[in-house]
Amino acid sequence: MMSEPAAAALLVCDADAVVEGGRGVRFAVSAFGDDGTGFVVRYGGKVYGYLNRCAHVPIELDWNQGEFFESSGLYLMCSTHGAIYVPQTGQCAGGPCKGGRLRPIAVHEEHDKIYWQPDEFVKAPPVSI
Ligand code: FES
Repeated sequence: MMSEPAAAALLVCDADAVVEGGRGVRFAVSAFGDDGTGFVVRYGGKVYGYLNRCAHVPIELDWNQGEFFESSGLYLMCSTHGAIYVPQTGQCAGGPCKGGRLRPIAVHEEHDKIYWQPDEFVKAPPVSI
């Protein structure tokens, strides 16, 4: 059987909307069959994407939309109970996420825009009519 062709990359935002160690941008996804959000952040000049779902309790990380970094700008932090994650890997670095990690979503920059790549489990959201 032939495998399905890879889904096309989808636009997230302008590249300069994602600030180094600062504001990130959310985007709608369908994650494992449920509505959800992904997010993109910038760290060390590179963009990283994850499913917006804490490894502690499966809820969104950002209490204020787009705020994913803690105050030092070194770690991503869940606003609910303070789990912290390494921005480059999504690995838990402290707090109640012990041993867990964020689910990565492939993102890339091209011509001053950021795109995300749907995969087998994190897909484009259904188009609302
Ligand atoms: S839900 Fe994220 S730290 Fe508890």
